[in-house]
Amino acid sequence: MLINKDMKMADVIHLDHHLLYVINRFNIQLGFEDKSVADVCAEHQVNTSFFLEIVNTYHDPSYFPLKNLKRFSPSLLIDYLQKTHHYYLGIKIPEIEQYINQLTLNNKIEPAHSKLLVDFFQSYKTELTAHISREEQRVYPYVKKLEEFLSLVDDGEVSLHEINEYSIQKYEEEHDDVEAKLYDLKNIIIKYLPSPNDSSLFNKILHDLFELERDLNNHGRFENLILVPIVEKMEKDLVKKLK
Ligand SMILES: [Fe+2]
Ligand SMILES: [Fe+2]
Repeated sequence: MLINKDMKMADVIHLDHHLLYVINRFNIQLGFEDKSVADVCAEHQVNTSFFLEIVNTYHDPSYFPLKNLKRFSPSLLIDYLQKTHHYYLGIKIPEIEQYINQLTLNNKIEPAHSKLLVDFFQSYKTELTAHISREEQRVYPYVKKLEEFLSLVDDGEVSLHEINEYSIQKYEEEHDDVEAKLYDLKNIIIKYLPSPNDSSLFNKILHDLFELERDLNNHGRFENLILVPIVEKMEKDLVKKLK
């Protein structure tokens, strides 16, 4: 069942509580009363169609309407992707880290095992941080520049060297998958570490890792299947404009 604009926002959460994290990225918080999705979006100046496409792709992994998604402006998309990055590095990773620290501080598992977990997690965190900072410092500014140049009335203001040194094809080639290592991290806990008597912290860490993995999958699809084609088209449009 897909989410539509007339549904009550409270019912959306009852239907799929995982969406809370996604909804928060639009700066929408709880306390929905009986308002519909459209009402809540309007109240927060959020584009309702964009909101619906994002929550539906998240809610139903088989729903990925390429055509609808390509209609949105790159800045709208980038703004959402950046908020998602912030959620990973500012909220989710620190939360998992805190659980791991609790495990090790309380000596709930053997020091050698906790070292294995901490080292693996730290190396994942470093990899994810590098991935995100490459996108935020290199790729997204490039897309915004392209968008800016395409909107200029006077082609004389287009500064070619700013866009010539990069192309979205490079991003496509180097855009690596950040989920593979997460799978290994989950397996260390599921298969190899002896569980403490009380495995509730392990369960919490695993739950968060599954959640993060699902979110990253969705995020990567947006980057590869939506952002890349939109930008390829912008590059072609700019070449045409400058001819
Ligand atoms: Fe990203
Ligand atoms: Fe990415």
